Order: sequence, then structure tokens, then C-alpha cells
Amino acid sequence: MDVLGIDIGGSGIKGAVVDVSNGVLLGERYRVATPKPCTREALAEAVASVIRYHNWSGPVGCGYPGVVHRGVLATAANLDKSLIGMDFPEAVQAACGVKPVIVNDADAAGLAEMASGSGKELRGTVIMVTIGTGIGTALFYNGKLVPNTELGHLELHGVDSERLASETARKESDLSWKKWAKNLSDYLNYLHALFAPEMIILGGGGLKKQEKFVEYLDIQCPYCWAKHGNLAGIIGAAATGMQA
Ligand code: BGC
Repeated sequence: MDVLGIDIGGSGIKGAVVDVSNGVLLGERYRVATPKPCTREALAEAVASVIRYHNWSGPVGCGYPGVVHRGVLATAANLDKSLIGMDFPEAVQAACGVKPVIVNDADAAGLAEMASGSGKELRGTVIMVTIGTGIGTALFYNGKLVPNTELGHLELHGVDSERLASETARKESDLSWKKWAKNLSDYLNYLHALFAPEMIILGGGGLKKQEKFVEYLDIQCPYCWAKHGNLAGIIGAAATGMQA
């Protein structure tokens, strides 16, 4: 089945049509900038523009960088706080006539990895961690998702982990790759101490330049890279769009 998957991020909103039976992108990935300010109307219109670009009237699934309860946005760590309380599917339907499904972005990425990526054969506790504007997490037990875990906001060395180990933290605090890799290692080792996952799957746009930091990582637990890379968010969003 073909579904339009849309990944809403802190800087860009990206959409592509995905064959959800195998997690393969069927066409081009189209990106628009995340509106600033990101009001409810602006977000609905930006997502509608991605749907219109693909000339799409079929099922749509979206990943959102915050907690989502039955379509209603419940947090907005790195986006405008006015989004909290927005009924996202209703707003997008009002803008373009198509009603999407929406879930947390890291949950979407994790679902893609568990279905057709690095987590496919994994049982027990598995945590997907996405590194980008923020830090996203998806917690699985025997392949079943516990939705909306916000483990990127665990306190580490006295601050929100996102302030130390996200891509934004590296750029804004001008951290060397070595220092940032130390922060990321501390964070993942802390997750391991708390949850004892059998595997941590690492993904998100912030890990694209692996050659810059991989030698500095000191992770005391099993980990692997997301097979779908930064596309996991779109692929997983599409998979949830089938539930419409
Ligand atoms: C949000 C999470 C999100 C993550 C990645 C965090 O700031 O609180 O919900 O999954 O960023 O986008």
C-alpha cells in the first residue's frame, strides 16, 4: 500500500510516498522549511503544501517532534508553544481536504526500524534514539511500542540531555566532535543504566557525519545505526498513516 509519509522537524518538513509493505520510498522527497513563527495555521498550511505538491488524496501519516495524544499536539519542545492543544488532523483537513494521522517523530522512526530496519529481528527492550534538533526516543518491548517516551529530556550532568547531546547543542555551543561524542556517550550509557536495553538504535540527521565522531564514541552497551538512516522518520510516519 502506498502512503504519503511526512516528517515534521525543527527546520524542515519533508514528505515522500512510501510503499509501506517494504518501507521503500517510491518517489522524490520534497522539503519545505518549517515556518517561523510556527503558528497552528502556518504548520497546517506547510503540511498541506507538501500534500498538494504530491497531488495526494490517499492516506497520509505524519511524525511530529513532540508528544501526540490521539491527534492533539501535547508538547512543543523545539517549536512554538502555541501549537500545544492543536487538533492537527482537523487543521490539515481544513487546509487541504486530506486528514492525516500523526504520531511522535521518534516513535515513527522507531516503528520503521523495527518493521524493516535494524530492529527487525530484535526482541526484549530496544530503544531507538534520534539525534537532530532535539533528542527523540522510542521504547519497544518485544516489538511493541510504548508511545511518547521523552527520554531526550532526562537530566544529565544537571541539564536537559538535549542541551548536551543533540545536533543543536553541538552547533550552538560550538562543541568539538570529541566533546560532543563524549556527551552523546554519557547520555547513551545513562539510558543503558536506567533501562538496560538489549540494543540502542541510533538515527536522525545529526548522525550523518559519522566519520567525524565515531572514533570518540565510548558506549558501554550494544548499539547499531538505523538502517533507514534519516529516512526512518518518513517511512515510519507513512506506516502509521495506514491506520487512518
Ligand atoms: C521532543 C520529542 C521529539 C524529539 C525529536 C524532543 O525535543 O520533546 O518529542 O521526539 O525532540 O524531535
